[in-house]
Amino acid sequence: MKHLLKLMDLSEQEINEILNLADQLKYEKKNGIKHHILEGKTLGLIFSKASTRTRVSFEVGMYDLGGSALFLSARDLQIGRGEPVEDTARVLSRYLDGIMIRTFAQSEVEDLAKYGSIPIINGLTDYCHPCQVLADLMTIREHKGVIKGNKLCYIGDGNNMTNSLIVGGIKMGMTVSVACPKGYEPDAELMKWASETGRFTCTDNVFEAAKNADVLYTDVWASMGQEAEAEERKRIFKGYQINSDVMAVAHDDAMVLHCLPAHREEEITAEVFESHANEIFDEAENRLHAQKAVLVKCLA
Ligand code: CP
Ligand code: NVA
Repeated sequence: MKHLLKLMDLSEQEINEILNLADQLKYEKKNGIKHHILEGKTLGLIFSKASTRTRVSFEVGMYDLGGSALFLSARDLQIGRGEPVEDTARVLSRYLDGIMIRTFAQSEVEDLAKYGSIPIINGLTDYCHPCQVLADLMTIREHKGVIKGNKLCYIGDGNNMTNSLIVGGIKMGMTVSVACPKGYEPDAELMKWASETGRFTCTDNVFEAAKNADVLYTDVWASMGQEAEAEERKRIFKGYQINSDVMAVAHDDAMVLHCLPAHREEEITAEVFESHANEIFDEAENRLHAQKAVLVKCLA
């Protein structure tokens, strides 16, 4: 695997290989087994947006594998002052062994890969969040035993998370339903692709989407970069929430996931959040293990 730019680039087999390696690395970490797989390698972490999980899990992940990580805030890089991505990519390729980037435009991530000569890992764009969904799939498999055949229901904004969940869920054999207000649907091309499998639906009716779900998923109503729309979105998304009424129509053993950070009483009630905290924080932990697997696949 050269890069991780988006999940659409990976086959079901490649995703399975990442998840299997992630399980192994998790087991080994819990049992104190140390690695030197990435000894001497340095990963640059470029952030144009805030982060807790992505930053810490990539830094710790590189350390665990014997390599090192360099935190690079876009605010302090010349890229933040307009230096072209083409030049940044070629310069950083001379110093680093790989780059993880969190930014706004997906094209910036694709351009880094195009003009640079080192592996590029997408740590979230406005379009997608592949690292998160690899951790989500790992968590689903851990709790349910299998991924295939489960119904994944996403409630809320059709955003970067939704786009990656559709691709990851469909590729891994799940049925995916999305409930979002009209005008806030996920990417049209991805919905068309997913619909062709006969395992995808999108509706503005939360209860229709959540019926018989095995996994319920939600994310913030206003993503990073949409702060100015936050108040308007609170009105538009009211009701697009995982709460006890929604849980009542899902399967009794349905699990609840949230990529975090969460806004209690907006997209999820505190009650549902706390009663599924074990799943949600396993999911957060699995960012570390799934990304270590991605790092091994791309950098080793
Ligand atoms: N879920 C996620 O990517 O979290 P951070 O924004 O804290 O990295
Ligand atoms: N949709 C959210 C995800 C955060 C992990 C955002 O882009 O802010």
